[in-house]
Amino acid sequence: MINKIHSLGGYIHEYQKSIANPQAFWGQQAECFYWHKRWDRVLEWDFASPSIKWYVNGKLNLTENIFERNLYTHGDQEAIIWEPNDPNEETRTLTYSELFKEVNKFANTLRRLGVHKGDRVAIYMPMLPELAIALLACARIGAIHSVIFAGFSAHALSERMNDATAKVLLTADGGYRGSKVTPLKEIADEALESSPSVETVVVLKRTNSEVDMRVGRDIWWHKAIDGQSEECCAEEMDAEDELFILYTSGSTGKPKGIVHTTGGYMVYSAYTFNNVFQYHAGDVYFCTADIGWITGHSYIVYGPLLNGAKTLMFEGVPTWPDAGRFWDIVDKYKVNQFYTAPTALRSLLAMGNEYLEGKDLSSLKVLGTVGEPINEEAWHWYHDHIGKNKCPIVDTWWQTETGGVMISPIAGVTPTKPSFATLPLPGIQPIIVDNEGKELTGNSVEGNLCIKFPWPGMARTLWGDHQRFHDTYFSTFLNRYFTGDGVKRDEDGYYRILGRVDDVINVSGHRLGTAEIENAINEHPLVNESAVVGYPHPIKGQGIYAFVVCGELSTGGEEGIRKSIMQGVTKIIGPIARPDLVQLVPGLPKTRSGKIMRRILRKVAEGDASNLGDITTLLDEDVVDKIIDGALLEVKR
Ligand code: WT7
Repeated sequence: MINKIHSLGGYIHEYQKSIANPQAFWGQQAECFYWHKRWDRVLEWDFASPSIKWYVNGKLNLTENIFERNLYTHGDQEAIIWEPNDPNEETRTLTYSELFKEVNKFANTLRRLGVHKGDRVAIYMPMLPELAIALLACARIGAIHSVIFAGFSAHALSERMNDATAKVLLTADGGYRGSKVTPLKEIADEALESSPSVETVVVLKRTNSEVDMRVGRDIWWHKAIDGQSEECCAEEMDAEDELFILYTSGSTGKPKGIVHTTGGYMVYSAYTFNNVFQYHAGDVYFCTADIGWITGHSYIVYGPLLNGAKTLMFEGVPTWPDAGRFWDIVDKYKVNQFYTAPTALRSLLAMGNEYLEGKDLSSLKVLGTVGEPINEEAWHWYHDHIGKNKCPIVDTWWQTETGGVMISPIAGVTPTKPSFATLPLPGIQPIIVDNEGKELTGNSVEGNLCIKFPWPGMARTLWGDHQRFHDTYFSTFLNRYFTGDGVKRDEDGYYRILGRVDDVINVSGHRLGTAEIENAINEHPLVNESAVVGYPHPIKGQGIYAFVVCGELSTGGEEGIRKSIMQGVTKIIGPIARPDLVQLVPGLPKTRSGKIMRRILRKVAEGDASNLGDITTLLDEDVVDKIIDGALLEVKR
């Protein structure tokens, strides 16, 4: 059993223990799992290289800890409850025994298709139980899965498959999201034209759309699994063998393939799920994320299933058929723990409370948020109208790279404060440093958030680019993991995340690199150069503001060019990266050495150019006035 914290005193005790002797603490948390061979040492680490190894020489298979370890006690209990996009379509549930059989069948299928331990399997699928089955089947045979969110474009999909040199792609004919049908196979076909490593494509039938099936490459899912055995021998994995790659955006254009490994990720996702959400046997847990993101990996699939939990998967969107959909689902399944993103809360709040009428939300015990800072208005609405003043809110701060929640209340244990992620979980040692790297100790300080000691769930490298892993996270501040976030520690020692301090923006809880969007804009034939910054957006948290320099205007005029730039970004990355505002400018504010002064553009986008600071190093100061004159939002001078 995972060590569950029940009281504030218990938390303080566990926290102190975990800091005094991290090895003993994390060794103990790993004891309850089934290992083929126990680890020799709990931890070996060095942040300079960096090299991080947990449960050194331990051997295991993660899926045995979901299935074999638990089948006797809850084989007949629900593992996955699936709610379709269309509320009138039939729901599906899979018990642990049923899920186990499906995982084995698909694992055998993958083996038959020639997938071996260490091979990469790309997954581009809608939110269906088969998506979870696919992840677990990969883990069963030691293949490395790489899920690519089904909202990404062909170009983005291809780029990620190529970086991972994926051997197999799992996809579907199409996907439903709200009133929209996404032609996934068609997009995949386009991507595959420039992804030569992919030998086989397995296609799940969902929308019954007409699709091209290429002979010798494409195979239907239902045909592929037909006749496969429901038993599959688990591959023995080293604790440090890769479990998955998940791509995320960074401050340069190229997406980063975050690598998580088996033993540490298993222990960390399971431990944090159990404690943060205070999950108890029999509870129904609902996380609204998509499995295309880390939240879905850790807190729809791995964390819950390793705890024998009932995890609800929802195929659709919060606002379809209407803005009451989440609450209908909570009511229908008597959801106990509910986990979502601030952007969803803000959009639902804006639509009014009539969507809550007649919905029984009394089953709710814990509410969670993740992905971006939650503003006080949204926090209070969540607390008062959804939680009816009786559910603790866990504002969970973490990242794709951290594998699991890092700073967060423990539900019902840690006193909460609106907009504060509160305190670090046991084993997590955050520190705040100034720009010179000096640690700011004590309370009431603000600076860069770093972590000074490893934890089991942390990323180990970037796929194929360890140097970039080092440079991105371990070179800014010596011997510290740098998160890229700004943070404040208040007078009570509580942490409040302030947002990114690098060139990464957070749009509706999706992380986007401004360079990535600029690269896409610059592909436009009429564009000379561009600079993208975030600006405060009432629903999305941050919106995307693009300043673009064009050589000449086409016949469509300014409006036409703006539109085609937006369409171009949608095509190259996907709709999530589409700029909200495109301002055509005569030039960008550059220093004499040619560096764009983004600070100025950020100020303009924030609507306050009254204090631009020192602009004397600019090559051409006039350009700033012209940018302010043409700004698309009101700007204070
Ligand atoms: C970035 C990580 C972790 C899963 C979802 C996003 C921001 C995340 C919070 C929070 C304020 C948050 C940070 C972080 N972020 N959670 N509770 N409060 N900011 O994962 O795409 O890797 O993005 O999201 O800026 O660095 P991600």
